[in-house]
Amino acid sequence: MKIMFAAAECAPFFKSGGLGDVVGALPKALAKKGHEVRVVLPLWRWMPGKFQEKMESWGSFEVKVGWRTEYCGVETLYQDGVRYMFLDNRYYFDRPKLYGYYDDGERFAWFQQAACELMGRYNWVPDVLNCNDYHTAFIPFLLKEKYGWVGPYHHIKTVLTIHNLEFQGEYGREVMTELFGMSPERYDDGTVRYGTAVNFMKAGILYADRVNTVSPSYASEIQTPEFGCHLDEVLRMENFKLCGILNGIDYDVNNPATDPNLAANYTVKDLKGKAKDKAALQKEFGLPQRPDVPLIGIVSRLTYQKGFQLVVNEMENLMKFDVQVVLLGTGYANFEHDFRWFNGVHHDKFGAKIEFDVGLAQRIYAGADMFLMPSGFEPCGLSQMISMRYGTLPIVHQIGGLKDSVEPYNPITNTGTGFGFEQFSGFYMMETIKEAMATYQQPKIWRHLMQNAMAKDFSWDKQSQAYLDMYKSLF
Ligand code: GLC
Repeated sequence: MKIMFAAAECAPFFKSGGLGDVVGALPKALAKKGHEVRVVLPLWRWMPGKFQEKMESWGSFEVKVGWRTEYCGVETLYQDGVRYMFLDNRYYFDRPKLYGYYDDGERFAWFQQAACELMGRYNWVPDVLNCNDYHTAFIPFLLKEKYGWVGPYHHIKTVLTIHNLEFQGEYGREVMTELFGMSPERYDDGTVRYGTAVNFMKAGILYADRVNTVSPSYASEIQTPEFGCHLDEVLRMENFKLCGILNGIDYDVNNPATDPNLAANYTVKDLKGKAKDKAALQKEFGLPQRPDVPLIGIVSRLTYQKGFQLVVNEMENLMKFDVQVVLLGTGYANFEHDFRWFNGVHHDKFGAKIEFDVGLAQRIYAGADMFLMPSGFEPCGLSQMISMRYGTLPIVHQIGGLKDSVEPYNPITNTGTGFGFEQFSGFYMMETIKEAMATYQQPKIWRHLMQNAMAKDFSWDKQSQAYLDMYKSLF
């Protein structure tokens, strides 16, 4: 099968979150299964030099953005069986941040049209085009309404993968004419409009042949007003084509037996290295090097989605226990400020690094005993799966992908791979942390749960098969 992915980010070239990890891993897994896979991306300025050096230029073409004409260079790289196509326009993408500019609508209008034209101009039309989140969600609409129901693109089957429904790409009515050079008809009749804005995500949901979220639970949750971000009604209407497929994690990168970032490597059969990683982590954060104290790790964007209001509210309470907490991440200024402050007052128990550090993240997954993830909503979440692979038991709010990947400890059956709470409140989060700390005092049970967690298969090798099954169901 010929499969093309369109996305705004992709590891290891550039990423700001889980979307980049998925786009970095899933295409590779599909190529390994013998499919012809391409990934089309904007060429961000942060692309590391080592990749830029290997890129090959395939020329350029011009893209109409409304009445203007904009340059589109095509740079490409073949790696791990996948052909990556980077669309280059420095005016739009030579910027320090990935998102959050006044002209994001125009930047992604350019990118989506360029991605559509690329297929015809370079004579490579996929069987399936898998779009990801709002940055590329307008493509299924463009293919049908702009590039025609007939012609070279008419047989392409489109899939929209929703990684996060919170961001929908909403722009004024004028984008229809001024950026896409189309008539505003589908805006005026309400099809691609929500409220008073063009809504890329809504258009994708309506026009894609299949829509999937990154976990089965999130696929049901977004059909309710509570989690639907105003699109629940549209999603209920379209739910015959909606499904959820749990993400995988990159098993090459996230492997405690080979991870080069760690002080010591280890396996499920021989966990000695993990104790060394714990000691090294305590040292790195300036905490007392005690093997017996439960160490809770946090690696996250510091946002409300991720539930940091609960963590901040309960911090003083938590610090009363014999526990250590290490935190790595950046995000909202109020949370960054709070955690710096807690770091100052409780420096013997709490360590915070307000930064983005891929190596340190791996050392936390390995060195901690527990991993805290109290997200308010979580389309999938990758960190809880990584931590399980490293034998670090997650403590999660049982929602979305967290519910689908972490099995809470059940003392009666002696099963589980972590700990979970159902109600989103600081009280229940604390009760669950206390349960985890009490279980930690029973080394035999704890070891058993670690082994359960490490034995789980969250590989893309397995999950990519579910994508293939979805693609096949389209024909
Ligand atoms: C988004 C979601 C996260 C998911 C990731 C990859 O970042 O918030 O839950 O794991 O996308 O699909």
